Amino acid sequence: MASMKRIFSGVQPSGNLHIGNYLGAIKNWAPLANEYDCIYCVVDWHALTVFQKPETLRENTYNALATLLAAGINPEKSIIFIQSHVKEHSELTWILNTVTPLSELEKMTQFKDKARKHKENINAGLLDYPVLMAADILLYDTEAVPVGEDQRQHVELARVVARKFNNLYGETFKEPQEIIRKEAARIMSLSDPSRKMSKSDNDSAGCVNLSDSPDEIRDKFKKAVTDSGKEIRYSPAEKPAISNLLAIYSGFSGKPINEIEAKYKNAEGYAQFKLDLAEIVVSGLADFQKKYGEFRQNNKFLDEVAKTGAEKATLLAEKKMEAVNKRIGLA
Ligand code: AMP
Ligand code: TRP
Repeated sequence: MASMKRIFSGVQPSGNLHIGNYLGAIKNWAPLANEYDCIYCVVDWHALTVFQKPETLRENTYNALATLLAAGINPEKSIIFIQSHVKEHSELTWILNTVTPLSELEKMTQFKDKARKHKENINAGLLDYPVLMAADILLYDTEAVPVGEDQRQHVELARVVARKFNNLYGETFKEPQEIIRKEAARIMSLSDPSRKMSKSDNDSAGCVNLSDSPDEIRDKFKKAVTDSGKEIRYSPAEKPAISNLLAIYSGFSGKPINEIEAKYKNAEGYAQFKLDLAEIVVSGLADFQKKYGEFRQNNKFLDEVAKTGAEKATLLAEKKMEAVNKRIGLA
């Protein structure tokens, strides 16, 4: 379907996926296939920028693949593949490295954060990470990239890199746009609403994993911190904890936030709201978890999906690399 606009997004197989990943990104990916030509990628090379145990990485890669399928992405309609299976991603990364100013990489928030958190392993890959991501995106003439807020800066960088290359060598790459859903773009930790919900906090009560059991989910919402007062109102500045819970409620129920506020207008406190929210998340994940369990037991099918996906992606990637190599005098 050459006339449809291209979407590309990726997820790292670097740990348990959580409801922030789900609401901010993955849940929105399947419906996009009705309007766009979609490519979704498990970015294992990105995950390596923080040390992964080989057997865990292998396991997490299957988990991520099963997550995409359980979230409703149809491999007959969209391309699903594993980044390291399509070598052109690394080939293009090298080329793009040569047009990317170091100063642009040094100002990336995620680099600065990760360098602070992983002082023992500030490797060159950590700095170069956004260039690999730019390669992922630009290799497929991507027009739009559905991600959470934390990836905005990286998509901006992909535009900078595309522009630089085009100026030097002639029009070759499309400049991609991010698609960021306002309310669920940044789901915060349930135990500290000033911090993003994150895989690295996996064992803390603040992170609801997609694999959590109903009772674990109930328990985490019961213990979720709240703000002073008892009003259920969306105001990230004044009520960061309740606003985060409202965003999660809205994400899973599909109801707009003002409707949820109206429902709890006369509430005497937060208790019932939190109980209801837990049930909405439990039932909102039930279908996903059932499908996930089924896909996860079928490695053969997952291998097939990855193989077919890589073949389809390779056809597109090879063609693009040929054009790039011609432009720069390598072919
Ligand atoms: P990652 O786990 O870093 O591979 O992220 C996969 C996708 O989930 C990306 O589009 C992120 O922007 C998104 N994401 C990660 N954490 C959150 C969060 N706390 N809230 C919303 N989106 C998130
Ligand atoms: N860096 C992204 C993240 O951590 C994952 C990613 C890699 C990605 N390549 C991409 C997202 C290309 C969108 C497009 O979430």
